[in-house]
Amino acid sequence: MGMAGGVGSARADAPSPQRAVELDHLLRHDCGSCHGMTLQGGLGPPLTVAALRDRSPEALADAIRLGRPAGAMPPWGPLLNEGEIQWLVDRLRRGESP
Ligand code: HEC
Repeated sequence: MGMAGGVGSARADAPSPQRAVELDHLLRHDCGSCHGMTLQGGLGPPLTVAALRDRSPEALADAIRLGRPAGAMPPWGPLLNEGEIQWLVDRLRRGESP
């Protein structure tokens, strides 16, 4: 536990609880503006657990970080750090309803 995060931990730093609240807001509002307020889909595809079942965490992180230039998905890498992107990926894969 604690601050070590040494060998074997490939994870980036987790966002603070306060930042997590902000990310949750981002997911509902910014992501939700395209993926639907409940992430059931809209302009963007649904981001539900069922819809993402076949996607690896890496593929999801890439989609968020780099966007999909061929589609309308913007890149979030300039706005979010790796820990924040991982938090969003975990959140989507856990499927807590936003
Ligand atoms: C401007 C509209 C828009 C916004 C805002 C947006 N997305 Fe997307 N997103 C899309 C579209 C459209 C696609 C599908 C792109 C494609 O594959 O061609 C997509 C694809 C994705 C995928 C890949 C899904 C899959 O099935 O592989 C993920 C993950 C994703 N978005 C997450 C997010 C997250 C998280 C946010 C907020 C940080 C976000 N998106 C904000 C439009 C948007």
